[in-house]
Amino acid sequence: MAKRLTHNTLIIGNWKMNGDTARNEVLLSELLPALSNLKGVDVVVCPPLPYLSQVVHLLAPSNVVLGAQNLNHQTAGAHTGETSAGMLVDLGCHYVLVGHSERRAFHGEHDEWVAAKFAAALGAGMVPVLCVGETFAQRQVHETESVVTSQLNAVLQRVGIDQLCRGVIAYEPVWAIGTGETASPEQAQAVHQHIRQWLTLQNAKQAADCRILYGGSVNARNAEKLFSQPDIDGGLIGGASLDATSFIAVCVAAQR
Ligand code: PGA
Repeated sequence: MAKRLTHNTLIIGNWKMNGDTARNEVLLSELLPALSNLKGVDVVVCPPLPYLSQVVHLLAPSNVVLGAQNLNHQTAGAHTGETSAGMLVDLGCHYVLVGHSERRAFHGEHDEWVAAKFAAALGAGMVPVLCVGETFAQRQVHETESVVTSQLNAVLQRVGIDQLCRGVIAYEPVWAIGTGETASPEQAQAVHQHIRQWLTLQNAKQAADCRILYGGSVNARNAEKLFSQPDIDGGLIGGASLDATSFIAVCVAAQR
């Protein structure tokens, strides 16, 4: 099947709870010059919340864009420790991760809550990156497609297909996150194709345009094969985004 060429490849670095002022500065001083000449790739980095202001200034002269790792779906008020979509926009965020499996597993984020966050991010003008994916146990009993579909459906019910496809979908099998065990390009492509077909049932034009990223132990060695699959439009990169050499190699592999 011919590769769809609707967008640049999208690479998002999810730093998770890593970094400090000094390390962020070193990492970006290595990354930004190397990423300035990429062709056909959009790059986003998602630092921890306390460093968004620092990083947005460091990114200012570059073509790399700022994202956040989480948001609260409410606009303001008595929500101690939380951050609204409007605050993230105010700090310069263009993207925000929604429903990452670590938030679903360790912070009790259920589908309806994730859908509310997705809607709040869009409402504030950001691009939400909706993370979906099955656990190892679910894959073992052949529930991958039904799990992913029901995670997507919760957002579809809330916002409709047009809005869903204004965001980005990231397929991240939970068993591949941070484990060094990647889905094979064929395994990843099969799920991406399933997602694309499910989107097509809602609206064929939107489905063709919708960006679907793969995440889960993407690194310099496996990136090119994954990104060459017809329905993989880029990657959500955790561990390898913390090392300049690895992240640069992943971004270079994403060039069209
Ligand atoms: P990983 O993380 O690349 O370290 O597996 C990916 C993610 O959690 O987004």
